[in-house]
Amino acid sequence: MRIGLLTGGGDCPGLNAVIRSVTKSLINLCGAEVIGIEDGFLGLIERRVRPLDWRAVGGILATGGTILGTSNSATPFAWQGQDVSPAVMAYAAELGLDGLVVIGGDGTMTIAERMGRLGLPVVGVPKTIDNDIEGTERSFGFDTAVATVTEALERVQTTGQSHSRVMIVETMGRYAGWIALEAGVAGAADIILIPEAEYDIETVAGVCRERESRQRFTVICIAEGAKPVGGTWTVDRRIETSPDPIRLGGVAHALRAQLQPHLHSEVRATVLGHVQRGGSPTPFDRVLATLYGHHAAHLVRDQQWGQMVTLQGGQLGSIPLNHVAGRNRLVTPTHPLWVCAREIGVSFGERSVIS
Ligand code: F6P
Repeated sequence: MRIGLLTGGGDCPGLNAVIRSVTKSLINLCGAEVIGIEDGFLGLIERRVRPLDWRAVGGILATGGTILGTSNSATPFAWQGQDVSPAVMAYAAELGLDGLVVIGGDGTMTIAERMGRLGLPVVGVPKTIDNDIEGTERSFGFDTAVATVTEALERVQTTGQSHSRVMIVETMGRYAGWIALEAGVAGAADIILIPEAEYDIETVAGVCRERESRQRFTVICIAEGAKPVGGTWTVDRRIETSPDPIRLGGVAHALRAQLQPHLHSEVRATVLGHVQRGGSPTPFDRVLATLYGHHAAHLVRDQQWGQMVTLQGGQLGSIPLNHVAGRNRLVTPTHPLWVCAREIGVSFGERSVIS
């Protein structure tokens, strides 16, 4: 059995842990030969692969990034204006691939699902710090990002307290508020602004003013995809070759400019950016990534193609890739953490807030 393995989309803590786990499990479970594909689907387009064996995946469990490299702008269905998927299928046949394990986010799963329909057997493993992949309650990398943001919130609180400032911290997360919600609660943010609830600037300013008189500082955790009522996303740049060309970023600075005229205290903004994606995975993510990789190898062994590994109710499982492709999992108003945060007095910038 010969199995290809690639990592697609943005890098993420835990990718190497999955590569290690898939490779070791496939060798042990089915004596498979594992072929590492470089830079995601780009490696299949440009014919760049290398063998992965026990030694190649040694010592990488705790390292950030991906030893295979990745790409978030290479799709065989629109590569430099052309559909090169027939050439990719021919290359997969030339390599003698019996299947492909694809580690990635929603964009990568969408491509994988289409490759599957062309006849390439695929299994997916959900990766993203955003935690927004349909069908699974946890993608690996999320826990590490939350830990990084939580530490940042604690650190800016020191400056907020000392200088009586309003401190805004911007997280990643694209169109979902999972990172901001979970880190905001863990890092004791006073206001959490997420894409799932448009914020009212008067309400946000009101909470800061009330805290100015009482506690002298405010910490705001804002997701990059958050928008004011009636407003739109803050776009940092466009990458036209990417499946989703929009790159969000800078909403913390926009909020600072909106808030400052309403307040006595100085308002400062910090955009965390890629520090949330880098570095060593937390123990939770190392374990989750290892379990996901192992489960993916079982799916390969059992010829359960066209599935993505999932975690639901704390149990490992899988769902068809076509239930994942093109969808996003957002925070719902009834999510227990959102309900809890509201009821302990965290403001989400909504006009009517329970306090
Ligand atoms: O999907 C992961 C993510 O880090 C998002 O949170 C963020 O919006 C995006 O990728 C940034 O992508 P890039 O590294 O291409 O700027």
